Amino acid sequence: MGEQVAILGTGVMGETLLSGLLRAGWTPQDVVITERRPERAAELAEKYGVAVLENVEAAGRAQTVVLVVKPQDIGSLLAEIRPAVQPEALVVCIAAGITTSFVEDRLPSGVAVIRAMPNTPALVDEGMSAISPGSHCDERHLARARAMLQATGKVVEVPEYHQDAITAISGSGPAYIFYVVEAMIEAGVLLGLPRATSTELVVQTLYGAATMLKETGEHPTVLREQVSSPAGTTMAALRQLDDHKVRAAFLTAMEAARDRSQQLSSGHA
Ligand SMILES: NC(=O)c1ccc[n+]([C@@H]2O[C@H](COP(=O)([O-])OP(=O)(O)OC[C@H]3O[C@@H](n4cnc5c(N)ncnc54)[C@H](OP(=O)(O)O)[C@@H]3O)[C@@H](O)[C@H]2O)c1
Repeated sequence: MGEQVAILGTGVMGETLLSGLLRAGWTPQDVVITERRPERAAELAEKYGVAVLENVEAAGRAQTVVLVVKPQDIGSLLAEIRPAVQPEALVVCIAAGITTSFVEDRLPSGVAVIRAMPNTPALVDEGMSAISPGSHCDERHLARARAMLQATGKVVEVPEYHQDAITAISGSGPAYIFYVVEAMIEAGVLLGLPRATSTELVVQTLYGAATMLKETGEHPTVLREQVSSPAGTTMAALRQLDDHKVRAAFLTAMEAARDRSQQLSSGHA
């Protein structure tokens, strides 16, 4: 790996990235982290064996600087590290709704910036990240960001104007799936199954269906038709989902998430 990565702000997502990098073969010497609360810093240093530095020192020594603080903390973090960031460094910003131009405007001119949107399955190395280059990036910067984020799952490159849609689909996506799982577990309980049994059935069904999608490469419509015999039980259920406009609700829900992401990007809380 050779090049050093600095993770600035090691909360939920920062720790996910840190642990993924170490599992993927980065050594503790390849990564430095920063953290505001001393007790959390000590816990992370002990658990992962990485150096915990101040933001300025970490940003000054790393070739790749990853900003993983909350969107409202990005401005002050950039003001702090601006004098320290190396001219040839790559800055990857993982904060929802923060544009590459916002970051570029607050760094020395010419510093390469990439915006990235990961999701929480990165915790189990099954994440989905989308990266978008800012105006000073070349292929080598993109390759660096890709290599880093691939430590926790898949990575796609998209133009930045798609980032609000990405936030709505894969960024927030795990929550919609958990919501469906909750509803199916409740349905099992309604039908008289013990809660533990219902949970086991639903979780394994989700895992099996996701694995089929991934391994067969078949379109979901084809896989659904395989379970939908004429006048059968599945069709009786699907008819109810159609009657309740569940597909339309998904479309509207994700439009709302996209709109909310746009609002947050334009600074409306
Ligand atoms: N969680 C997700 O699913 C997800 C998905 C995609 C993107 N993201 C993005 O990832 C970013 C981080 O989210 P998170 O869920 O990991 O939040 P989080 O758990 O609050 O982590 C942020 C960490 O950064 C620390 N921090 C804040 N300002 C700092 C500073 N100036 N210097 C050093 N450390 C600082 C915070 O310390 P304190 O605890 O003291 O405040 C906290 O430990 C957000 O911008 C979010 O949009 C998250």
